[in-house]
Amino acid sequence: MKICMIGTGYVGLVSGVCFSDIGNDVVCVDRDIKKIENLKKGIIPIYEPGLEELVLKNYKNNRLKFSTNLKESISKSDIIFICVGTPTKKNGNGADLSQIFNVAQEIRSSISKFKIIITKSTVPVTTGDEIEKIILHKVSKKLFSVVSNPEFLREGEAIRDFTYPDRVVVGTNDKKSNTVLKNLYSPLISKGAKYVNCSRRAAELTKYASNAFLATKITFINELANLCEKLDVNIEDISIGMGLDKRIGGRFLRAGPAYGGSCFPKDTKAIASTADKFKTNLSIIKSVIKSNENRSSLLLKRVFDILKGKIKNKKICFLGVTFKANTDDMRDSSCLTMIPSLIKKGALINYFDPTGEKKEFKNKKNVNFSKNINSAIKNSDLIIIHTEWNDFKSINFKKIVQNKKFRIFDMRNIYAPKKMKDQKIKYFAIGR
Ligand code: UGA
Repeated sequence: MKICMIGTGYVGLVSGVCFSDIGNDVVCVDRDIKKIENLKKGIIPIYEPGLEELVLKNYKNNRLKFSTNLKESISKSDIIFICVGTPTKKNGNGADLSQIFNVAQEIRSSISKFKIIITKSTVPVTTGDEIEKIILHKVSKKLFSVVSNPEFLREGEAIRDFTYPDRVVVGTNDKKSNTVLKNLYSPLISKGAKYVNCSRRAAELTKYASNAFLATKITFINELANLCEKLDVNIEDISIGMGLDKRIGGRFLRAGPAYGGSCFPKDTKAIASTADKFKTNLSIIKSVIKSNENRSSLLLKRVFDILKGKIKNKKICFLGVTFKANTDDMRDSSCLTMIPSLIKKGALINYFDPTGEKKEFKNKKNVNFSKNINSAIKNSDLIIIHTEWNDFKSINFKKIVQNKKFRIFDMRNIYAPKKMKDQKIKYFAIGR
């Protein structure tokens, strides 16, 4: 099939490359000339394990193309995926849909034969109706169909999530589009993915509901971890004990710092704002947002307790600063709240991240980037394990850290407390 992906951000690039890998002719379009030039040279704008290899392979065999010419790319394709950003509005909690609507206007002036226009970006329910209205201004209803096909990829696991999805959700009442889409996804369906056809609005809402539910699960276990700390109970036992109930499921029950990234914080706010617009109170999601916003202050309070209230001039090392492991993404990482607060209190921060130095901390007074784990932790009073990279899972702290009274705050529970105790390391974790 001939596919055009509009927007080469996370969703568009990964999906476009993976669609080409399962045998389609794909053109990825972006208005950012530099980005497209780089992609043609095999320079990938995001960190995603396995992506570079797939780009090179499919670009070489000519199934994958990159272009800045939107008009030409649309007219040569049968299926158009809209994958542009839907960030939180500057003055509110709803999603800013200006990029989506601009693209819809550009699409409508490039249609001369039947096209399936699909939103893959996360868009509030009823956005498909709006896109259809915009295109109908200029194009006959017979020449297009607007479909919702949300993506469920996780950063760092995106290729696997694309190739082996639990489900593919396609929102359309148009039989012809549904048949084309089912065909497009048939290589994944044959590997076990469930194909769900529903209304367009239902597909749009399913995406937000899924992210909001996962954010709720994480917040639930984070709050329970707070209780476990008071009761001397291990939160891991609770996660396992609960998660084995198939109705609950064990995934996304790992307690840790505040959830972050480009999706959960944005999407929970957006769904709550949509509900307000339709005069419905999503009170559970609102309290999840609040609880998550408070989480970093709560963990900072623990840091003060661990250091017995003496923060000034204390050398604190962060291992990992992105919002989770296997990504270079800093968006809504809890470090962006915690590090500035600690500096204000006089701490001296050193950090190491496997994806390198971060522009967010460049030239910030008392924040230093170390090029490797050893130099990062060597002089620390406190080591905070902030992300769960494999690189951090078997460090010989006793051998490397010079200050014999150093402490560890493992915010991802990657070390066994007993082993730490046996080594006489002052070790603190989450909910245990
Ligand atoms: C999330 C969803 O998991 C994807 O299904 C969805 O497609 C994507 O958003 C999106 O809407 O584009 P992502 O933001 O890449 O994916 O990251 P997750 O792996 O879901 O993690 C989100 C946050 O939750 C991270 O801060 C992570 O550390 C935290 N988390 C996750 C926990 O604290 N505990 C867990 O058990 C799982």
